[in-house]
Amino acid sequence: MNVALMINLVYIASAVLFVFGLKMLSSPATARKGNMVSAIGMFLAVVITLINKEVIAYHWIVIGIAIGAVIGALAARLVAMTQMPEMVAIFNGFGGIASLLVGWGAYHAASQSDLFTMVTIVLSVLIGGVTFSGSLIAFGKLSEIINSKAVVFAGQKFLNGFIVLAILAAAVYFCINPGQSYNIFIGIMVAALILGVMAVIPIGGADMPVVISLLNSYSGLAACAAGFVIQNNILIVSGALVGASGIILTNIMCKAMNRSLANVLFSGFGSASAAKGKDGEQGEVKPITAEDAYLILEAAGSVVFVPGYGMAVAQAQHAVRELGELLEENGCEVKYAVHPVAGRMPGHMNVLLAEANVPYDQLVEMDDINPQLPLTDVCVVIGANDVVNPAAREDESSPIYGMPIINVDHARTVFVLKRSMASGFAGIQNPLFFKENTRMLFGDAKASITNLVAEFKG
Ligand code: TAP
Repeated sequence: MNVALMINLVYIASAVLFVFGLKMLSSPATARKGNMVSAIGMFLAVVITLINKEVIAYHWIVIGIAIGAVIGALAARLVAMTQMPEMVAIFNGFGGIASLLVGWGAYHAASQSDLFTMVTIVLSVLIGGVTFSGSLIAFGKLSEIINSKAVVFAGQKFLNGFIVLAILAAAVYFCINPGQSYNIFIGIMVAALILGVMAVIPIGGADMPVVISLLNSYSGLAACAAGFVIQNNILIVSGALVGASGIILTNIMCKAMNRSLANVLFSGFGSASAAKGKDGEQGEVKPITAEDAYLILEAAGSVVFVPGYGMAVAQAQHAVRELGELLEENGCEVKYAVHPVAGRMPGHMNVLLAEANVPYDQLVEMDDINPQLPLTDVCVVIGANDVVNPAAREDESSPIYGMPIINVDHARTVFVLKRSMASGFAGIQNPLFFKENTRMLFGDAKASITNLVAEFKG
């Protein structure tokens, strides 16, 4: 069989595996298998690409694979779950710089300088550059190497608009006169890197996961453009899939926060001047001890756990699963309610609960659990704050007003497990803590749950 035909047939098989893998990722029950299916697709694509006679330097590929494999294996072992968004950010950046380098290399290697080739080269460099520098800033903000607050200054949108227009004008000139405009090409590259920085600095830390998802989408588009540059079909398809899934995820996250993408990108949410809603004390909180909380749980017929970012910090998921099992043995119905933006990355809570082997059929999404909460005896909020904040429903002046939340305050009793009265990521007060049916179980979430487990075990 003709080699080119064989390569393309395997690419089609890989693309099919990517699509099925992505589909499986949409449910916790099939996500692991989906990851494996996609990985097999990628393995096939890489292997078949290596038999392409246009490969000119196998030794560099081997060196690249070895370095990449070491970095990947170390990252998978050493990076804590709470640092996952930073890791995704920097990996997106690697994708962006790879596309930029492919475009730059292709400019020098291009045997023909037709308009189509030049447009794809410019797109690859432009999107790759924005993704690279934007991802580095996102990484810096999330890991707090740089200030995570939104940086907003007068004339910022005007300056950004000017950079975009300058890039467009330069790109048009370059595509028409590619031979004589290498300096302009380099200028586009530098301007793209500056634009990436300028686009991400006005975005506050709390919105950073949305931006990372958007940058993930850009890295896919950059790869897609690079695929057109080197005329590689699987790079085009996989880049388009990453681009499309990234934008869908971005949209889901914006909806779950009741914000538009434009509001996330341009409002400076999280800057010093952002609105705060009703602040200050809103009544008296009622603390509870683990012993008293146990007595209520022991008598409960239905319990819903609502995990949030604090469960990830405390690494309490295994203790939570153990408490859930003890409650079930006690004849109680146990469910876990997962808010789409609980934690700091999409699926954060699902991943932690899956790691602790919580049965998938006990996980319930926000829209399905809310109607059941008025009939629930106890809601146990484990390190969640913004995603259970009734101000989103009740306080029109709140910055999170309109964000869909898990209505834990509708349950008969609510236990909130956290260390202090500190606010969540949005930096706003939570009236839930002062409600009549709320009891605060202060302390590290893992320690509190472990105490409850100890009470159950007698
Ligand atoms: P947050 O509102 O951030 O609240 C987390 C709470 O956990 C804090 O109030 C903190 O209180 C508590 N906590 C921290 N460490 C703890 C520990 N060791 N033990 C017990 N409690 C601990 O979390 P959330 O409710 O999950 O909301 C997520 C936030 O991130 C939302 O604002 C959401 O919009 C934003 N966000 C998320 C995403 C994704 S994709 N997940 C994307 C964009 C934005 P103490 O310090 O008092 O303990």
